[in-house]
Amino acid sequence: MAEANRINDVISTGMEGDIALICIDNPPVNATGQAVRAGLKEAMEGLVSEGRAKVIAIYCAGRTFVAGADIREFGKPPQAPGLGDVLSAIEGSPIPVISIIHGTALGGGYELALSTHARVAVEGARIGLPEVLLGLLPGAGGTQRLPRLSGLAFALDVILSGRQVPAKEAAAKGAVDKVMAGEPRDVALKAGQEVIDGTLPTRRTDLIEAEYDRKVIDDTLAGVKKKNPHLISPVKCVEAVAACNLPLEEGLKVERQCFIDCMNTPQRAGLIHAFFGERAVSNIPEAKGDHRPLNKIGVIGGGTMGSGISTACLTAGIPVMLVEVKQEALDRGVATITKNLDGAVSRGKMSADKRDATLALLSTSLEMEALADVDLVIEAVFEKMEIKKEIFEKLDRICKPGAILASNTSYLDVNQIAAVTKRPEDVLGLHFFSPAHVMRLLEIVQGEKTAADVVATGFRLAANLKKVGVLAQVCDGFIGNRILGHYSKVIAYLVLDGASPQQVDDALEGFGLAMGPHKVGDLAGLDIGYMNRQRMKEEGLNPAERYGGVVADRIAEQGWYGRKTGKGYYVYDAGAPVPNEDVAGIIDAVRAEQGITPKSFTEQEIVDRYMTAMISEAARVVEDGTAKRPVDVDMVFLFGYGFPRFRGGPLHYADTIGAAELVKRIEAYAKEDAHYWQVPEILRKMAADGTTFADLNS
Ligand code: 3HC
Repeated sequence: MAEANRINDVISTGMEGDIALICIDNPPVNATGQAVRAGLKEAMEGLVSEGRAKVIAIYCAGRTFVAGADIREFGKPPQAPGLGDVLSAIEGSPIPVISIIHGTALGGGYELALSTHARVAVEGARIGLPEVLLGLLPGAGGTQRLPRLSGLAFALDVILSGRQVPAKEAAAKGAVDKVMAGEPRDVALKAGQEVIDGTLPTRRTDLIEAEYDRKVIDDTLAGVKKKNPHLISPVKCVEAVAACNLPLEEGLKVERQCFIDCMNTPQRAGLIHAFFGERAVSNIPEAKGDHRPLNKIGVIGGGTMGSGISTACLTAGIPVMLVEVKQEALDRGVATITKNLDGAVSRGKMSADKRDATLALLSTSLEMEALADVDLVIEAVFEKMEIKKEIFEKLDRICKPGAILASNTSYLDVNQIAAVTKRPEDVLGLHFFSPAHVMRLLEIVQGEKTAADVVATGFRLAANLKKVGVLAQVCDGFIGNRILGHYSKVIAYLVLDGASPQQVDDALEGFGLAMGPHKVGDLAGLDIGYMNRQRMKEEGLNPAERYGGVVADRIAEQGWYGRKTGKGYYVYDAGAPVPNEDVAGIIDAVRAEQGITPKSFTEQEIVDRYMTAMISEAARVVEDGTAKRPVDVDMVFLFGYGFPRFRGGPLHYADTIGAAELVKRIEAYAKEDAHYWQVPEILRKMAADGTTFADLNS
């Protein structure tokens, strides 16, 4: 800058002729933390009182324009000046102020831009108001200023979806005034000159009257309540936008109140835990070391998992060699991959040309020898140890030195698989979740001998596939399936003891699950669980454990496998599924045989038992080191098991109950079944110390 003036660590100003520049430099994403707010206020006051500039241009250093308020400050005592006050001062400036947006202007960042008198997007920039994704709403004028600039429908769409709007679309809607090419500072000078020349018009948003349509608001509100019956912030978003017909000052007051209401909800805390958790799982030394190349991947098995994994790799631009034993199986695999990619085309996520180019990255073979040159092989065949061992012995002979040999097993012992090779350090588990090209979780299972760079490559793969990689140690079921295996039992016990399957489903859907467990069973096929239980019976059940599978066994033995046979826990004719009345008969018969007098459970009691069971095993998974930290368990459940994001995850939710209360509950349940309900030591200790799972995350 010709004349530079450092206001504080993150804000500087300068003059270039008649143009004043304010630069925000607060890595990594220029969030409006206290120093940015204070610096902006001081910079504006200084430039206005000096009165030399004909225009003030605000731009950012680094990778992006301001990406929002500093989320880390939320839930802590507010520090002056408030963002809203700073933005009102900018809007009220007698000198026109413009904002130069590069990267992403999100949340409070875009609200900063909205308070200026013209918005110039650098090519490739995006704008958005993603607060709703954090359980909030735009709290610094976004709900009032965007409808004034771009109309009600567009504002509601942007605010309720939280989506990032490309500069071109934003320009077409008046959400930015111009798109220009260049470096942010150069664009600031060019655009500033245009303001001086009168070719870039400026205006004060507060003087614009918002277009208003009560019907649009009412319809949107009804739609929001139907789509997200659990969520508070989308309703509050609409409530705030509905105030945009008031004078700006008044509307801002309504917005502020709605914002505070949201800030005080556990949903906000849960969603922000999810935001940071998604990033925290790979923010560990194991994920960061050197990694091996991932230029070509082999997949063994063209079933649902193998095809899904292949689709995910191909979509990420990685060439795949798919190997199957029989031609029909290979053909079916290729057909599934093609169908998956076609699905992306029909949803508008991929162009037809891109689909063709993506499919061209796929090669196939009936011979394992075709895997000789790949960097990583992912085996996705039947869950039978003997078959896996056979495959890994072959891979050990065929694959080049340094190639990584991975198993997609969902519960088998990775150490045993590694032991059949002469390179156990190159072996790990990569547990994908079905459908593997959609579900974002990837459990990265570290064997006893897995090398550090192999684990780091697992994380690299997750990042390349845009998945959330979570480190897990070897045990039966790793993090997710081990916990699932435990709490699934309580669902059966609830039904045996008095609840109906529909009551259990309704209670858990009320808690936030997209689908109750019995509906999920019907969808997945009740024959699968049946076969698993038969296998477990053959291996020998634990006599101390109450066997809960009787009802499910009898249902499957009728040939009622759920949706695919039209009947399971529910009956699937045309229209919404209705409870299968014959199931009630089976349940009654089993209760009579076992001498059970049915109890009645409230929805809350059902949720409490289900969640306490889940939390108990999750606590043990943390206690024995299968998961590194509680947040890892939480992210496994959010990204692999459809746990409601607004609850943050099972262990975040556990903290909202408190360890002491959980111990009390388990001890009370243990009076009925002391084998199943045992207090994990870690929980007992936390109850005694008054600590939380969150304390273990730091
Ligand atoms: N506050 C604090 N830290 C933030 C942040 C924010 N608003 N946004 C991102 N970060 C941090 C991340 O936690 C990460 O930290 P780490 O390196 O220690 O893990 C770092 O910045 C980089 O972020 P990403 O890894 O996510 O980087 P990407 O380049 O992938 O994505 C992004 C950048 C698109 C800006 C993405 O970070 C993002 O979506 N951020 C959140 C944006 C948002 O929700 N803004 C609204 C905030 S609420 C608000 O503004 C209220 C207002 O209305 C009053």
